[in-house]
Amino acid sequence: MMVNNKTVVCYGGPQTYTSVDRYNEAGTWNRTYHEAHPQQLHISWVSDGKAFTVQFSTIKPVQRSHLMYWSYDGIEQEQVNESEEWEFIDGGAAKSSRYMHTLVSNRLDSATIYEYKVVTVDAEGKLHSSDIYQMHTPDLLSSSPFKFLATGDIGVVNAVSMPLFKQLAKSHDYDFVAIMGDQGYDLADFDGKKGDEYMNFAQDLYANVPILTTAGNHESAYNFSHYKNRFDLLPYKQSNFADAMQYSINYKTLHLISFSTEAFFYGSDDQIKTALNWLEQDLIKATRNRSLRPWIIVIGHRPLYCSILSNVDCKENAERLRFGFDGKFGLETLLTKYNVDLYLCGHKHNYERTFPVRNNTIVTKSYHNAPSFFQVITGNAGNYEGPDQFDMTVELPDWLGNRFQGYGFSSIQLSAHHLDLHHYETNIDGSLGLLKDHVRVSKTTSHVNKQKIISSLSS
Ligand SMILES: [Fe+2]
Repeated sequence: MMVNNKTVVCYGGPQTYTSVDRYNEAGTWNRTYHEAHPQQLHISWVSDGKAFTVQFSTIKPVQRSHLMYWSYDGIEQEQVNESEEWEFIDGGAAKSSRYMHTLVSNRLDSATIYEYKVVTVDAEGKLHSSDIYQMHTPDLLSSSPFKFLATGDIGVVNAVSMPLFKQLAKSHDYDFVAIMGDQGYDLADFDGKKGDEYMNFAQDLYANVPILTTAGNHESAYNFSHYKNRFDLLPYKQSNFADAMQYSINYKTLHLISFSTEAFFYGSDDQIKTALNWLEQDLIKATRNRSLRPWIIVIGHRPLYCSILSNVDCKENAERLRFGFDGKFGLETLLTKYNVDLYLCGHKHNYERTFPVRNNTIVTKSYHNAPSFFQVITGNAGNYEGPDQFDMTVELPDWLGNRFQGYGFSSIQLSAHHLDLHHYETNIDGSLGLLKDHVRVSKTTSHVNKQKIISSLSS
């Protein structure tokens, strides 16, 4: 709803109230939609960026839906008519309903800017079109570097970085955005209407840059059903996982894996084992192809390391994730065994970078041919909970490379031998702030060959 030409949104959580939110002022998403009008558009990748998937929502079912796309400088239009539609009912007492739709493009040309839209046909045969969005495909014919955005913990309210993300999404500088969980705060609130609101709010980002997400604790309601249904477009089927909670994707020199840390906190012992067994099988395949894709990055929601050592997330919860319940079924065990380069996460609302680390111990301060992974928390996009305050009374761990308490986001550039991670501050007015951290990770071909050897240290 609008008050004095400003969008008014509701805070999530039990103490609900409304407030004018400065980060939504320019939004046109908060309007009344026809029941067959496509809304909540978001896109993701098929592996190697050879095709894209699009998901959207309607209030009621439609007769048909179509994906239309064309290269920005071309005239020939492609159309996909094969779509999936299903009803998603929120798990709350009101049983609120919406219809989900997914479509997959045909094979795309390399290094090309595309425009696309989705069109629905309602029960009376009337057409309803989304806005037109743009995205670009990777240059698969060259070894040129590419960049992606990394962020997490984004609300509808106090989404300080969202205006900037929406600008960056239109720049074609980023090939995808990795979102490390906790979107909307919470998608299931208000009988799921908060989820609808968030997905429309985020549309100018999520429909212009493919998203690769992971689930967080704020998506846990009703067995993560909002996450699984709203992000069904993620490439989990090609990754041989049962639902969107886990998947992997190849992208030029990168193998990126999305792992559900929430299995450790909401899952049964069997679910944890299923999650880890899938991860290990995926890492075995990635190791076989390491010469082709030397970088392995795992994204998850919760940190294995964080510096607020007085907080349970940085103590018991981090240890549980690292080593499992009996030292056998831990996430770190697998990251180490298969020589993962970087673990990206959120959950804590700040930025932290470790040195190469293992077993709660710094391995080296050098990021050249590093013998272990390092971790980056980039959960400071902005949400109604605000930043997590650092505890200045506890001693800093030796594995901590840098940290920043404030709003921001990370940009990661990858080429065959280098990974450059920059962390930028987002100013409180939503504009781009100062560079807060930069790390360059490098590795030689001989180091990649060593990484192909599966470590027996932790097996
Ligand atoms: Fe979280």
